[in-house]
Amino acid sequence: EDLSLTVTRAETDEVEGITLAKPICSIWDQVWNFKAKPDDLLVATYAKAGTTWTQEIVDMIQNNGDIEKCRRASTYTRHPFIEWYIPKSSPQSYSGLELAEAMPSPRILKTHLPVQLLPPSFWEQNCKIIYMARNAKDNLVSYYHFHRMNKALPDPGSWENFLEKFMAGKVLWGSWYDHVKGWWKAKDKHNILYLFYEDMKENPKHEIQKIVKFMKKDIEEEVLNQIIHYTTFDIMKDNPMANYTKDFVGIMDHSISPFMRKGVVGDWKNHFTVAQNEKFNEDYKKKMADTSLVFRTEL
Ligand code: A3P
Repeated sequence: EDLSLTVTRAETDEVEGITLAKPICSIWDQVWNFKAKPDDLLVATYAKAGTTWTQEIVDMIQNNGDIEKCRRASTYTRHPFIEWYIPKSSPQSYSGLELAEAMPSPRILKTHLPVQLLPPSFWEQNCKIIYMARNAKDNLVSYYHFHRMNKALPDPGSWENFLEKFMAGKVLWGSWYDHVKGWWKAKDKHNILYLFYEDMKENPKHEIQKIVKFMKKDIEEEVLNQIIHYTTFDIMKDNPMANYTKDFVGIMDHSISPFMRKGVVGDWKNHFTVAQNEKFNEDYKKKMADTSLVFRTEL
């Protein structure tokens, strides 16, 4: 069956003013009451900030660089995406909650929720959380292409149109600006390692070592080098357990734009017009005036 013919783009709804896919809103009570365990490790990001990359690194550290183990299943099933929900009636059904409940500890979990919507049990259990942030412009470009290729998401419309929606925070998982600021603030009070895509790109060894330390693991130099190698963009692009070619078949159309698209810093320059860039920068300054958070948009 050719799913691409039957797939309809997601409808959205809101939870506390945050736009989410409608099915997630319909099970929101269950998401909110999710029971985290003390040894859970949560990878939290705004969508398209480098979630999959972080997950692969964390999984490799957890498995001491064992490539076979890390290819036991696709990212999407290895690490439950806690709030993601597609009803059983759909051929692509998925329940992050059920997957998490069935998983033996220690679990690695994924979320895109803004900090105020994180199920409170994560705070109560003092879980380790790794937050990966990416500069707004590249994050937006990646999100735009992802909406084009992923038919389970709302239609992005034109680039201009999506740019406006992003600036207004009227996209799935809400405002990028509030998301990165909210988690940045939370890191001072909680067990959060806050990382940047740009740093990871510039010096993966240094950033991966931070994660190793945060996870309280001890790994040999040789294993560390192995992890650096297997989590590069080029290797992950060809890894069927990381590149999403095994999941969402018929929903993600990699011929429109591959999940592993470019994996660089600064691709925004190929998308923004001069006028769009000026407008974006001016608006950015206002929205980010109340934070100490600084991003790099080029290396
Ligand atoms: P681009 O669309 O800019 O290429 P997420 O996993 O949060 O959905 O993020 C996807 C983005 O991370 C995509 O960005 C993807 O190419 C990039 N990415 C995935 N693996 C990567 C890696 N190993 N190194 C650099 N970027 C990576």
